[in-house]
Amino acid sequence: VLDEPEITDAEYDRLFRNLQGLEKQYPELVTPDSPTQRVGGQPLEKFGQIRHVIPMLSLSNIFDEKELLEFDERTKRGLGIHSEVPYVVEPKLDGVAVELIYERGLLVAGATRGDGITGEDVTSGVRTLKSIPLKLESKGPFAETSVIEVRGEIFMSRADFDKLNEIREEAGLSTFANPRNASAGSIRQLDPRITAQRRLRFTAHGIGRAEGAAPRTHFEILQGLYAVGLPANLEHTRLCNDMEAVLDHFRHLREIRERLPYEIDGAVVKVNSLADQTAMGVTARSPRWAVAFKFQPLQANTRILRIEVGVGRTGTLTPVAIMEPVNVGGVRVSRATLHNQDEIDRKDVRQGDTVVIQRAGDVIPEVVEVLKDLRPPDSAPYSIPDNCPVCDSQAVRLPGQAAKRCVNSTCPARLKETVRHFASRNAMDIEGLGVKLIDQLVDLGLVKNPADLYYLAKDTIKNLQRMADKSASNIVKALEKSKHVSVDRLLYSLGIPLVGEHIARVLMTAFPDIDTLSVQGADVLRSIHGIGPEVAQSVVSFFREPHNGDMIQRLLRTGVTPVPLERPEEEPETPLSGKTVVFTGTISMARAEARRLVEDAGGNVSGSVSRKTDYVVAGQDPGSKLDKARELGIHVLTEEEFRDLIGKS
Ligand code: IVH
Repeated sequence: VLDEPEITDAEYDRLFRNLQGLEKQYPELVTPDSPTQRVGGQPLEKFGQIRHVIPMLSLSNIFDEKELLEFDERTKRGLGIHSEVPYVVEPKLDGVAVELIYERGLLVAGATRGDGITGEDVTSGVRTLKSIPLKLESKGPFAETSVIEVRGEIFMSRADFDKLNEIREEAGLSTFANPRNASAGSIRQLDPRITAQRRLRFTAHGIGRAEGAAPRTHFEILQGLYAVGLPANLEHTRLCNDMEAVLDHFRHLREIRERLPYEIDGAVVKVNSLADQTAMGVTARSPRWAVAFKFQPLQANTRILRIEVGVGRTGTLTPVAIMEPVNVGGVRVSRATLHNQDEIDRKDVRQGDTVVIQRAGDVIPEVVEVLKDLRPPDSAPYSIPDNCPVCDSQAVRLPGQAAKRCVNSTCPARLKETVRHFASRNAMDIEGLGVKLIDQLVDLGLVKNPADLYYLAKDTIKNLQRMADKSASNIVKALEKSKHVSVDRLLYSLGIPLVGEHIARVLMTAFPDIDTLSVQGADVLRSIHGIGPEVAQSVVSFFREPHNGDMIQRLLRTGVTPVPLERPEEEPETPLSGKTVVFTGTISMARAEARRLVEDAGGNVSGSVSRKTDYVVAGQDPGSKLDKARELGIHVLTEEEFRDLIGKS
């Protein structure tokens, strides 16, 4: 939840497997809040329905500062006050609203908003989200609630969204249009195992019922939700005492929007006082005490001059709209991806069409919709050609796949893309080896795979177009320099499908070198945290192909000596590392001194005994903590034993 893990991933996995083993042996001890229960076993029959005790409302939208001031005036009029109204301003996450029901701190149900009155039962799906605690902590204003309905947003980071679509595209499945759709499609899965693979996240933004708690403000609610262990995005939420502060935070969110790892489409402005909220009331659809202040969309209209087809590293033909240049949110745009034939058909995009295009973050702009009224009368539907636009080989679309691919594995377009990727900045970083040069090298048959680059003589390079003595020797120098990149970059530069920079780093942290990686089976790869079945299979297939192995050996023979990654060092063991100690009764030193001793030995001190306690140190006249420790079977130490343990006797 806090992105501050207390233990390493490897340690987590080890404990998890340990727990799985124990639960297999003693199934009667499996509790509903066990981490193993996050992934449901069997697909469910169908969604049940859950009625929201308090309806889940929507928000009315506003789009400019004038409307915001009007909202503020309505609020003041409604409350009959002239002074400033405190508001809470939060990011408006672009995801799916859900309600999570906790009874006595345990997650018992999760539902989508549905029609606001009745939602779909997605309990087994929400149980798979790591950011949703199965059990709440008993801290803060919601510590003692008998029932609490937590409301919030399920969403997906841009990176996870891109990864999901990449995998789907590789598998020939349809892709999701945006992270919001992907989140909705992923939580509304009958098989929770699919939901579990989708890396959904959750952020709480309110509550329904909360029996046994009486918060007074919305901000207190958010803090209370955070205290019981729910993510609440407090980092980007601000309590604003006047309209100036509201506007200021709105502008701030708009400013950081593109840098956030997830999509937000505006800010939500809420009256902070719950008494004021009640006084203002709700309409059938939305509360009067809150509005969604939406950002201007990053969209613009332009005309498609023609559709071109590019050939990627794996031979995928990608249609690209070449458009009259247009400014979208400050960036000049002249190309937009059309993805594949299905997308073209779905939107009926044709050459000459006037279209709405959209840009989001750094991603390639997309065509959102065609303005059919403006379509020229002589236009015709567009089909991706049946032949590769570069080598003229057949381009086929395999059953169940979205993409057409050039079948020629030696297609120069594929080779050029492979070499371009190999030389690119985040890969081998071969400065000066640009597109024009790569084109010539491939077209002249001088480079048939990336390793060939290192066998080029300076004179050969010098005699190419736009080359001279100086530029040729710079290329030779850049090639020499690239021989000593880190090994994860070398792996990334090979262009193995699905192996991006991050995955490359994960793999090269797990194995000392590429030779060792190349002989691993899919099962071994999958056992590495962060490596899924698709990636594992892709890596195995790549190294199974003899040409690839030969190419790597040729690379290594020319003196490419990648620098290994530093393996994570084992933390030095201290006597109490990771342990929690509770003191009870009178001991010979002050509590602060005792705490210091524990912390120096790597442990931490807690005030109360729970299952998480490792040791209870009992002095004279111990209190009820000792009874509790005995009841829970926790190791009890005398002060002397404690000193022995930490080596301070
Ligand atoms: S409060 C009655 N806060 O936006 C108040 N909603 O357009 C209801 N949303 O259905 C919601 N971020 O799914 C609230 N910080 C936020 C939000 C948020 C996203 C969604 C929510 C709601 C929709 C309304």
